[in-house]
Amino acid sequence: MPSALFSPLTVRGTTFSHRVWMAPMCQYSAAADGPDAGAPTDWHVQHYGSRAAGGAALVIVEATAVVPEGRITPFDLGIWDDAQVAAHRRVVDLVHAQGARAGIQLAHAGRKASTDAPWRGGAPLGPDAGGWPVVGASPVPFADGHPTPTALTTDGIADVVAAFAAAARRAVAAGYDVVEVHAAHGYLLHQFCSPDSNVRDDAYGGTFEDRTRLVREVTAAVRAAVPEAMPLLVRVSATDWVEPAGWTGDDTVRLARDLAPLGVDMVHVSTGGNLPGVAIPGGPGYQVPYAARVRAEAGVPTIAVGAITDPAQAEQVVAGGSADAVALARPLLVDPFWPHRAALALGADLPLPVQYDRARALV
Ligand SMILES: Cc1cc2nc3c(=O)[nH]c(=O)nc-3n(C[C@H](O)[C@H](O)[C@H](O)COP(=O)(O)O)c2cc1C
Repeated sequence: MPSALFSPLTVRGTTFSHRVWMAPMCQYSAAADGPDAGAPTDWHVQHYGSRAAGGAALVIVEATAVVPEGRITPFDLGIWDDAQVAAHRRVVDLVHAQGARAGIQLAHAGRKASTDAPWRGGAPLGPDAGGWPVVGASPVPFADGHPTPTALTTDGIADVVAAFAAAARRAVAAGYDVVEVHAAHGYLLHQFCSPDSNVRDDAYGGTFEDRTRLVREVTAAVRAAVPEAMPLLVRVSATDWVEPAGWTGDDTVRLARDLAPLGVDMVHVSTGGNLPGVAIPGGPGYQVPYAARVRAEAGVPTIAVGAITDPAQAEQVVAGGSADAVALARPLLVDPFWPHRAALALGADLPLPVQYDRARALV
């Protein structure tokens, strides 16, 4: 039986050589200020280039802020200015040179913005420590010790929508093949969706339809900003893990049904991140059932992610119909050549870069 995981996938006008993709992972390695603030650095170029050389068919560049105040940390990537496009192009060109597709995740952290890098504790940073005032759906802080966000006005919301669209246009200019809207992990779009973080009583809060209005508006604006042939992904948190309260798996299926007609090609199914201290079950493939639900019940292609570490497990996710592709995050940090090892284990042909061919027997 040929491997389903290593079969090509065509989405709109773009073909991916197989279905092992690199999940977005913040590197917190950009300059915080100055003329190169937010622009990819040599670290990013080698990091993403290595995973492309390692065989990932799609490399999704980390959460990249559409406005400076949407950065999680001062060291996040950004694509809020035309001046950042050239540095993104360096990443894209190297990924392409390795035969992979390049994607970018467009993000706004909302109330979870303005924190320190995780390896320095990740605490909120006040304006006197290099941070900035944060915005959100409602004046509800993420957790104790986090700042109370200023609720976005209707004009502020329109600015966010426009910023996502402008960022998408810059992503196209940089040569990216795929754009992913970050609507997961408790960042701004998720904050609007979840009733725990959105207590608005205007057109952007209250009912399911009103809470999801912003993610629909952003999605439609991004779709309109990119070429017809470009795949558009939306990453969601399928549950806040406090069901039946909070944002639920049922909500996610309903949202996926609403997003598909707006031109979303695949839903990238993660979970959690909007509420602190929530018990997440974990375990191998713990989020895969949510990807399977979206695919089966909303009829939208999915990307499964989370604790997918074994080639046979990844093969089963795709062959069994839970998802159309898998995304790996931590496994690719420690082993950029995971796709090559998986291909060998599954009897698929994935040529090493010619420069590395003499190591074939060691894969
Ligand atoms: C270092 C690191 C940075 C991450 N940054 C992002 C990010 O920028 N955007 C995002 O949606 N998820 C991010 N994630 C979550 C991963 O994309 C992924 O969903 C999660 O790690 C589970 O997959 P895994 O078990 O393969 O690591 C990050 C994870 C790690 C480990």
